[in-house]
Amino acid sequence: MSDPGVKTRSEIEAHEVEKIYDDGMIRALAGVDLTVAKGEFVAITGPSGCGKSTLLHLFAALDRPTSGTIRVDGYDMNHLRHSNRFRRQEIGLVFQLHNLLPRLSVLGNVEIAMAGSHRPYAERSVYAQKLLGDVDIAHLADRRPTQLSGGERQRVAIARALANDPPILLADEPTGSLDSASVEAVLGLFQRLRQERRVTIVLVTHDNVVAGVADRIVQMLDGKVVSEQATRSL
Ligand SMILES: Nc1ncnc2c1ncn2[C@@H]1O[C@H](COP(=O)(O)OP(=O)(O)OP(=O)(O)O)[C@@H](O)[C@H]1O
Ligand SMILES: [Mg+2]
Repeated sequence: MSDPGVKTRSEIEAHEVEKIYDDGMIRALAGVDLTVAKGEFVAITGPSGCGKSTLLHLFAALDRPTSGTIRVDGYDMNHLRHSNRFRRQEIGLVFQLHNLLPRLSVLGNVEIAMAGSHRPYAERSVYAQKLLGDVDIAHLADRRPTQLSGGERQRVAIARALANDPPILLADEPTGSLDSASVEAVLGLFQRLRQERRVTIVLVTHDNVVAGVADRIVQMLDGKVVSEQATRSL
């Protein structure tokens, strides 16, 4: 950030965001306005194809909007030069297909996320082990991802997303493949992160129970936000 004066209080601000794919044939986002406050936990729901993942990708600077503006922790996504560094410092990403590296151990998968970070090399392994403990899979540190259940892999992905202490966690269907006990464990973890570290969380889900844990539920339809509902007073 070159100009601290433009930094806003909101953690995420989307204004009239459009995303058009395939030379105008697909309007994945059709003018999204959304603000997420620092430390807030927002759930995004809506039917398949309504643009949820697209919006999350734009927040993570994995892609740019066709038009409109997005600010994430004060960074303007239209003018971001170092998107890799931005992601490493600002964003923890959890996807349903967790993309763990099969040749690395569970511990190695978390450690490698710290590559290029400020954390001293000697501390990385210890911190990775602590994060695995936070998601209750410390005992699986030496296994390969292929030797884990879906729920266990999901927890590795969450530990990895937290490796660089990001202020923002973006999660796309993080509980989609989990049994109900694992869903509860993951949701409990998200709530703890919010309370203890004031992590801002944006979570995409089809599951109303999962969405109900958030402070606010944002409903999308056809590339737009159609309703917002607070689940409890903030
Ligand atoms: N890279 C792409 N190229 C072209 N079209 C795309 C691309 N990514 C997504 N789309 C289209 O954009 C629309 C929104 O997709 P998106 O993945 O954001 O939906 P979603 O709400 O996440 O759906 P789901 O709940 O099924 O994950 C869909 O019509 C999809 O087919
Ligand atoms: Mg999706």
